[in-house]
Amino acid sequence: MSKHIKVENLSVIFGKPSQVEQAKSMLDTDMHVSEIMEKTGVTVANRNVNFEIYPDELFVIVGLSGSGKSTFIRTLNGLNKPTRGDIIIDGENINDMDNMRLRTFRRKEVSMVFQHFGLLSHRNVLENVEYPLEIQHVDKKERTEKALEAIKQVGLDGWEHHMPSQLSGGMKQRVGLARALVNNPELLLMDEPYSALDPLIRRDMQNELLNLDDSFDRTIVFITHDMNEAFRLGERIALMRDAEVVQIGTPKDFFENPANDYVRDFIADVDKTRILKVRSVMRKPSYTALPSDHPKTLLEKLESGNLEFCYVTDDDNKFLGYVTTEQLKRSKAKSLERLVTEDNTVINRNAYLKDIWKNLSDATFEVAVLDGKKRLRGVISNDDIINVLAD
Ligand SMILES: Nc1ncnc2c1ncn2[C@@H]1O[C@H](COP(=O)(O)OP(=O)(O)OP(=O)(O)O)[C@@H](O)[C@H]1O
Ligand SMILES: [Mg+2]
Repeated sequence: MSKHIKVENLSVIFGKPSQVEQAKSMLDTDMHVSEIMEKTGVTVANRNVNFEIYPDELFVIVGLSGSGKSTFIRTLNGLNKPTRGDIIIDGENINDMDNMRLRTFRRKEVSMVFQHFGLLSHRNVLENVEYPLEIQHVDKKERTEKALEAIKQVGLDGWEHHMPSQLSGGMKQRVGLARALVNNPELLLMDEPYSALDPLIRRDMQNELLNLDDSFDRTIVFITHDMNEAFRLGERIALMRDAEVVQIGTPKDFFENPANDYVRDFIADVDKTRILKVRSVMRKPSYTALPSDHPKTLLEKLESGNLEFCYVTDDDNKFLGYVTTEQLKRSKAKSLERLVTEDNTVINRNAYLKDIWKNLSDATFEVAVLDGKKRLRGVISNDDIINVLAD
């Protein structure tokens, strides 16, 4: 299970109520936030923010210090109230949640990982990870089982009885992550979780997060101020500046169509070949078929879309193979099932572009991109890569 989030015209202003009222009327003008602050004394931390985060997406918010990233994530978690606008999570407006509902939401459906770990220093690893279940009064046996499982997921088995002070920064952050995973949340919020770590450890942690993301259906909102990290991890990225979203899109969108000079400067130092993964460059397939589709109807669809072939998946989006238009023309079969050709050129979405570039140049069609569960997540062709890598 994973969450769908819709952010509609969200603004968050900090200040005295009378000042906030006054500032609200300035949100839709072209006054800069610093000017609004000068005039009214408030801080506008989020201003008219609009975007959608899809279920199971790894969505990254990037921006310089003070641009409003943490404010957004805290509002998503119900810790700040929107001054104006809505956040709708699976159809439920966060503004309509009463305290009881908010508490359940925070305890059971969403978890947060912080930059400075936030571990309880007098408790060992196991007890730290058990903590969220303990406050929900889950019985001892069950919470230990679940905590051990989460500890294993982050690669800390064997360290259950160590105290936080005996762990390195990377290990502490793993404990933080295990604690966030222990209640199996549908939404995971990560606020600069790796910013305090050394570059090499940071890279390991990023890779582990991507693998973890592949094994579970879960929406992840990840905050960073590092564009390289944003592009390595994010399927889509929102770049914030002075409380506003400047651009939102895939890394490919950013490279191909930077919204303005600010974005251009922001991405100037990104080493594309080293950080870009297939998941951040792939496209949605133009059409996918189900085995139950009728070959004749499918042929009409493909021809009308001018497509030479399409990929076939089952009801759970599990990848089965492809059928070509030629094949459909020749065949008299009543069901698609037997026409599906297996495909061995598929690529995992966490592969680096530099490692798959060569394979792709031999492919006739765009290649299917799968996740760890062999589900079809996108397609990619050599042209996509060339477009992104070329300046
Ligand atoms: N509770 C609060 N009360 C008053 N001002 C606040 C509050 N929380 C945040 N702010 C202000 O809102 C602005 C945005 O802060 P926020 O923490 O969201 O930025 P950020 O992008 O997370 O920055 P960083 O990278 O430094 O963590 C800042 O000017 C900050 O001082
Ligand atoms: Mg912050």
